[in-house]
Amino acid sequence: MNSFAIPRSVEWRETHITILNQQKLPSVTEYIDLHTLEDVHEAIATLKVRGAPAIGITAAYGLALAASRYETEAVDEFQRRLQQDRDYLASARPTAVNLFWALDRLVAAANSAASVNEAKTSLIHEAIRIQIEDEDVCRRIGEYALTLFRPGDRVMTICNAGSIATARYGTALAPFYLAKEKGIELSVYALETRPVLQGARLTTWELMQAGVDVTLITDNMAAQTIKAKHINAIIVGADRIARNGDTANKIGTFGLALLAQSFGIPFYVAAPLSTIDIKTKTGADIPIEERHPDEVTHLAGVRIAPEGVNVYNPAFDVTPNELITAIITEKGIVRGHYETALPSLFAKEEQY
Ligand code: MRU
Repeated sequence: MNSFAIPRSVEWRETHITILNQQKLPSVTEYIDLHTLEDVHEAIATLKVRGAPAIGITAAYGLALAASRYETEAVDEFQRRLQQDRDYLASARPTAVNLFWALDRLVAAANSAASVNEAKTSLIHEAIRIQIEDEDVCRRIGEYALTLFRPGDRVMTICNAGSIATARYGTALAPFYLAKEKGIELSVYALETRPVLQGARLTTWELMQAGVDVTLITDNMAAQTIKAKHINAIIVGADRIARNGDTANKIGTFGLALLAQSFGIPFYVAAPLSTIDIKTKTGADIPIEERHPDEVTHLAGVRIAPEGVNVYNPAFDVTPNELITAIITEKGIVRGHYETALPSLFAKEEQY
């Protein structure tokens, strides 16, 4: 048992789903209950729950919950409604492939059931399995990632690819939790991550609870910090990795990868296989979410830009594969040659 806290963001409660409201952190630690498909869609779209794996887990529970209330005994009708609700939840956010991956896993589980009752049970079991697997996967990613760092390293990250973005441990933040467990000192430099400040609000909040040494900087301090603080490496999470290794992650990630190249330090992406989208050939094929202008014109609800100003608000950018030193997955570390190496990870995949 760990002696330090690693917060969790999603819990299945049979009649509803409880989530940590990530919109309100760190000033308010609030858990909210999601009872309907609409509640789940809204929570994902408004970032109450966010981070690619956590979105997938929540959507999976949402679909299982909705299906448990279908009043038909007819398998055809059940499958038709399931597909409809799957499509509705899939429309909540476009970039993180874990959302579609999790929903499609549930639909496949239900479609192989012989009766409506069996399908309802399979859906719940599959959603629970996705969450349990993700915790194990994140821990493995953390173990592999930790081999890339030496005691005393100073590592930069952006956004929040931590425990609350997954089932537990996170992806990019997993090595810091494991280092803490093993008594290895690592320092984290967290970019605040405008526009909605996942770095300032969430990454610092969860790492501080675990006693990990974390320093907050604003996004425009990255180059100066790499130079002045002798940053050894950059590690980020991912929302979708194309077959060739091009990686969509929080806006600002691409800029960090260019800085890493310029300073000659490694740039690592940590992500589960559920984030690798073999069907998407390159980063150019990844849909990039554009969010409401208010996220840019306002800071913590206060207007900081003139009314009517033009705003561009992409939530993600794509880092080209040639800037990525390695992709760290639960199946090991892949260094380059992503076009062939990433598909082969799936060929080796064992069933949990
Ligand atoms: O818009 P968000 O907060 O959902 O963006 C999240 C990220 O960009 C994370 O880095 C990514 O989902 C990986 S979470 C393990």
